[in-house]
Amino acid sequence: MFAKETINRLEIDLTASCNARCPICARNYNYLQVKYNERPFEHIKAQLDEFINLKYIHLVGAFSEPTLYKQFFELCHYLVDRKIAIEICTNGDTHDIHWWSKLGTILTERDSVYFSVCGSTQELHETYRVGCSLENLLNNARALRQANPHGIDYIQHIEFEYNKKDLESERMKEIMAEFSHINLTLTYFTRDKSIYRNPYNVDKLLVSDEYLVKYEAADKFSRAKWENKEIQKCEMDCQSIEDRSVHIDQFGKIYPCYIWLEESHQSEWNGNYQDIKDFKYECCRFCEKNTKKLLNMWGCELL
Ligand SMILES: C[S@@+](CC[C@H](N)C(=O)[O-])C[C@H]1O[C@@H](n2cnc3c(N)ncnc32)[C@H](O)[C@@H]1O
Ligand code: SF4
Ligand code: SF4
Repeated sequence: MFAKETINRLEIDLTASCNARCPICARNYNYLQVKYNERPFEHIKAQLDEFINLKYIHLVGAFSEPTLYKQFFELCHYLVDRKIAIEICTNGDTHDIHWWSKLGTILTERDSVYFSVCGSTQELHETYRVGCSLENLLNNARALRQANPHGIDYIQHIEFEYNKKDLESERMKEIMAEFSHINLTLTYFTRDKSIYRNPYNVDKLLVSDEYLVKYEAADKFSRAKWENKEIQKCEMDCQSIEDRSVHIDQFGKIYPCYIWLEESHQSEWNGNYQDIKDFKYECCRFCEKNTKKLLNMWGCELL
């Protein structure tokens, strides 16, 4: 069973707010209600105090922009005091350079900030990062970098078919050279159009051709495993169990991971890892051991 004192790593949605409208983000799934809630820092602190063995925290979220949390600096100070390593993922277009500079003075060498770039021009960037300015992101990342001597900034490039060529462009090389670290990732699978509340641009946001066939094969393979689970014994490779990690939503509710949170339609998690091991939940099908082996072998990322 889940026990707070065993948890080493957690991710948190601090609010349900975002300034962007990335079309295939979980915010846009029509079966998810993204209800606004912002807990006072004291509430979040009281909850985190109970995780006495916490080493890593991801201020990221399944459907929110972490830097919009009003008491973000207080939270970071508290985590730095507890020597918990902080990972922030951001669309980078919030606040101004003074805010980002201040953040740079608070964070330490243990921490990391991922700025997500999806194209070397404004037009390409906002094909996915709808409503976000590339220029603001670059200025904010510079401000953070100047204020923090430890090189904690990362450019996180998400590859789609539409921006694949651009990744090799001179301008993208210049942008990447500014950052202390580069993290290249693939988009997750674009799902059937009908699941998006607003299907704007969805047709343009396909995984690159090379990976599409792999994702489709893994999808088919894992579905067959799920459908035949009574006959075949399936072993699960659960990252929540492996990493001793959980996901907390904006109300403080605890889930084993962000996929479970999104796909369970926000029902309560019973904290029972045996149910996950017994393959009780369909959303866990991509973590079935052989499916995961395939995905890893093909360089596909799901979690
Ligand atoms: C839902 S976002 C929330 C944090 C923040 N708002 C952001 O976008 O960075 C969580 C993570 O998912 C990543 N992400 C968003 N859309 C993605 C996509 N289509 N494929 C892969 N990763 C994606 C983000 O870059 C971020 O690292
Ligand atoms: S910035 Fe992050 S949370 Fe906001 S819509 Fe984009 S992926 Fe989703
Ligand atoms: S999807 Fe299921 S098996 Fe995979 S990490 Fe989450 S809870 Fe574990």
